[in-house]
Amino acid sequence: MALTSASDSSDGFLPESEVRFIHGKPVGPPSRATLMVKHIGQLVTMRGPAPRIGPALNDLGILENAGIAVAGDRILAIGPSDEVEGRVPVAPQCELIDAQGGLVTPGFVDSHTHPVFNMTREKEFELRLQGKSYMDIAGAEGGIRASVRDLRASGEETLRSELRKRLDRMLSLGTTTVEAKSGYGLSTRSELMSLETIRYWNERHPIEIIPTFLGAHEVPDEFRSNREEYIKILIEEMIPEVAKQNLARFCDVFCEEGVFTVEETGRILEAAGKYGLRFKLHADELKSSGGAELAVKLGAVSADHLIAVSKPGIKALSSSNTVATLLPGTSYSLGLGKYAPARDLISKGGIVALATDCNPGSNYSESMAMMVSLGCLHYRMSPAEALSAATVNGAVALGLAGERGQLEEGRHADFVVWDAKDYREIPYHYGVNLVTNVVKSGKLVVSDKE
Ligand code: NIG
Ligand code: FE
Repeated sequence: MALTSASDSSDGFLPESEVRFIHGKPVGPPSRATLMVKHIGQLVTMRGPAPRIGPALNDLGILENAGIAVAGDRILAIGPSDEVEGRVPVAPQCELIDAQGGLVTPGFVDSHTHPVFNMTREKEFELRLQGKSYMDIAGAEGGIRASVRDLRASGEETLRSELRKRLDRMLSLGTTTVEAKSGYGLSTRSELMSLETIRYWNERHPIEIIPTFLGAHEVPDEFRSNREEYIKILIEEMIPEVAKQNLARFCDVFCEEGVFTVEETGRILEAAGKYGLRFKLHADELKSSGGAELAVKLGAVSADHLIAVSKPGIKALSSSNTVATLLPGTSYSLGLGKYAPARDLISKGGIVALATDCNPGSNYSESMAMMVSLGCLHYRMSPAEALSAATVNGAVALGLAGERGQLEEGRHADFVVWDAKDYREIPYHYGVNLVTNVVKSGKLVVSDKE
């Protein structure tokens, strides 16, 4: 739904596009609201520090009977509903949302997904139920390499329409910022195509996408007997080209026994660093191999998965700025019965984020609400801790601390209106979509009115 902004300033008001903020406060002539939400029963602001660490994870900055006024893509005013309505002038085309006493939260920040693929792998889901392991299947006909064979045979159009469906679903489930990895191409041509598909939708879809290059997701079929050659192509061809075309903000490596070793991961990321890419790692997902320790040593923005992280790995993460991104849906969908040590990481002072890992192999789900629910039940996080990990700390895991995942005056206007009165309903009333409205960059992009 498009918003119309007034363009003349003869009445003393600035056009919304010209509203200026200094230290989060609007300056200049009064600006008018282009979107207002009133009658919010419970507004989770997440105002305050980013990241949230330890007990601060429980601090949601809740306001009751609140309202939000938005100008352009920023929050102009936030506070008691009547006061916001009374003090903020309204643009003629202002969008009005009545939350009817319901819940509003920041949009989810899903900081780990692999959404660029065509073929789904439900056959492997069933094989796992029959007792086969993820690595057994990957070593046979399935796994990442099966997705790679399929992606290489798929056209760009198919890939685009498949990605679009996933982005639509994410947005309608309340995710307003998502990280998206390549990693099912594993050749220069198909990795670039995957990242271009991400860029295509980033320029057209309301969801905001942070792209990650994951050419080191696996060693493709044609290099199985010469993995060194593949690493050479990654370092000398793919990374320089991805950087040159500015197609990714992060470089990620699947550092895992049977995939890339700690030594290889270090070499690949070191090369990526020379081209200005920041680091993420798939670390200690199935077996402990020292991935978490390497992530900290390299100053990675995040170390992800950590189901099998070692004690020294927990210690290293807990005294670092590297975010421990936990993906409970992966333990769930792989049927591992083993979950990352979230409580240990939290109590030792680690920065914990929650994300979906949305991918065709180990967890096909776009739902952050479901991850919040799994985080509560399997990590024993409180609903407040899980919600903080899925918003403000998700933003930190994308290098966007203070820029996303928090609702305060002057900050980005990304939020969700829920058919719920209390934030604890998100994990408690699971498996359904309680989202009624989504506002991204100040625009109403999902509406219950349509
Ligand atoms: O995060 N671990 C590596 N990548 C995905 C799985 C990818 C796949 O099986 O297609 C993950 O679990
Ligand atoms: Fe992953």
